Amino acid sequence: MSTTPHEPAGGPPVKRVTVPEIRARKGGTPIVCLTCYHAHTARLLDRHVDLMLVGDSLGMVMHGMETTLGVSLDLMILHAKAVMRGAHRALVVVDMPFGTYEESPSIAFRNAARVIHETGATAVKLEGGARMAETIAYLSARGIPVMAHIGLTPQMINVMGGFRTQGRDEADWPAIEADARAVSDAGAFAVVVEGTAEPLAARITASVAIPTIGIGASPACDGQILVTEDLLGLNPSPPKFVKQYARLGGEIEAAVAAYAEEVRSRAFPGPDNVYGMRKPRA
Ligand code: KIV
Repeated sequence: MSTTPHEPAGGPPVKRVTVPEIRARKGGTPIVCLTCYHAHTARLLDRHVDLMLVGDSLGMVMHGMETTLGVSLDLMILHAKAVMRGAHRALVVVDMPFGTYEESPSIAFRNAARVIHETGATAVKLEGGARMAETIAYLSARGIPVMAHIGLTPQMINVMGGFRTQGRDEADWPAIEADARAVSDAGAFAVVVEGTAEPLAARITASVAIPTIGIGASPACDGQILVTEDLLGLNPSPPKFVKQYARLGGEIEAAVAAYAEEVRSRAFPGPDNVYGMRKPRA
């Protein structure tokens, strides 16, 4: 656990889960991860998760974009700052959005350093296996811990022609396994394995030295991550791999409908929801 200079003043000292602690969980108790985009959700998740990811999925979940490709670094930083105000224990990792890291290791460093500097988050995540190994090594050697992301990488949607599950044909396994080895050897502290056939995700987990964090992957992974809004039932058409632990979409709609009805009928605000006059002084 460590403290950072970005923690809010006052209150108890912050003890945050560290990168070496996550790294050391390989093969141990599964690492609990969720996405998080705002301060109030961060407060609710903080006691229960080891790691919060400010994912670029926020472009789709929060901003109604069709893909993650339109997300900017400024938008990621805005949401990451909000999450850091609510998360005082979990490790916070911020996604590098499309176009901010692929060109060269030095450009990736400049943008990732901006994320760490302006938000106080601990680490960044970037998509890509072997092709990003040089960048992962460059950032890690210069003080920026990197979580890698292989298998289905949503920023490649235009090349893949859609969100396609990876590794369903054994012929595709060697390249994905090589990606996993490459990011591990390059110094990533963990790797997200997304949308990957279960036997391949299990095999990768058994063969790499760093924790694998599965999403649509395998129960054998060293940890799991989901988009929080998906597990809460706020996504009307979640992917097959999502388990909904609540149905908040329906609850929100019912609450809003009840409010609308009470406003129209003047049942709200009631006597408890208004302010009276001060009693006159004697
Ligand atoms: O952006 C995101 O939320 C992610 C997770 C799905 C792993 O990358």
